[in-house]
Amino acid sequence: PTALAGRHFLKEVDFTAQEFLGLLDLAAELKAAKKAGTETRYLQGRNIALIFEKPSTRTRCSFEVAAADQGASATYIDPSSSHIGKKESAKDTARVLGRMFDAIEFRGDSQATVETLAEYAGVPVYNGLTDDWHPTQMLADVLTMTEHSAKPVTGISFAYLGDARFNMGNSYLVTAALLGMDVRIVAPKTYWPAQEVVDRARALAESSGARITLTEEIAEGVAGADFVVTDVWVSMGEPQEVWDERITALAPYAVTMDVLRATGNPDVRFLHCLPAFHDLGTQVGREVYEKHGLESLEVTDEVFESAHSVVFDEAENRMHTIKAVLVATLA
Ligand code: CP
Ligand code: NVA
Repeated sequence: PTALAGRHFLKEVDFTAQEFLGLLDLAAELKAAKKAGTETRYLQGRNIALIFEKPSTRTRCSFEVAAADQGASATYIDPSSSHIGKKESAKDTARVLGRMFDAIEFRGDSQATVETLAEYAGVPVYNGLTDDWHPTQMLADVLTMTEHSAKPVTGISFAYLGDARFNMGNSYLVTAALLGMDVRIVAPKTYWPAQEVVDRARALAESSGARITLTEEIAEGVAGADFVVTDVWVSMGEPQEVWDERITALAPYAVTMDVLRATGNPDVRFLHCLPAFHDLGTQVGREVYEKHGLESLEVTDEVFESAHSVVFDEAENRMHTIKAVLVATLA
């Protein structure tokens, strides 16, 4: 068994920096082994439940492919067809699935639900995104950053532009604080993470040496950054009514070529957890952004399709890093 055997992954701070970085090393090993065709199957005969109360492309497929590669089976439970949260509580669901499965992944709005599952399941529980945190995404993002930077993790700087009050903003701030990175939250003040998240990050930074900046000024925030990152302005589960205010408040913080140039770093890389509103032709909310006369929202198509963009490396790394979580906690 590994040092993380039997552990939950509900939020980034469930792991120490050393444990978090250890998962990245394991992910890099598993990635190399898969590409070389030499992957060892550590999870033969294991069964993993995937509860999704919200849609997913990357997270669901990462768990399914990772499980298959490792010889485990995954059961996908879609947003409408199980009893959880409707006829049956999270507590009861946890005790039922815990008798059948070796681990449970949960995606939904409530952090309390994934915490309840963890309390009662008796098997490892993983947070596949809640409104508060997106911890498996952080593993992929930091792995991608290390792959695209010659610096050690503690030397890497990144600026997050956009709505920082939700899962991605919270997770970036706390992850950088945990790992001792240089993080800049660049957004209107009302879109900064909640004070308790900032306090938690500042406390972590005291021992990790992380540099934390919260600013409304784009030029100050992105100066010298190795990476510029963003997320959607309206997250899953939020009502249609918020589009207008979000677009008005956040439009100046869209990641454009000018923003990348303002870093002063010709090798700056762009990350986005995806899905991204860079090409509005296929997206929801069309009437609203057409009204605002926009062709893209949080990132321009030019940036998204540029050589700066490493979003598909990042998406691929979801699978390798989620596989590392499964192997570390279940093998
Ligand atoms: N980035 C991410 O979590 O993508 P999905 O919503 O497709 O899982
Ligand atoms: N903030 C986004 C992230 C999607 C992966 C959402 O919660 O919808």
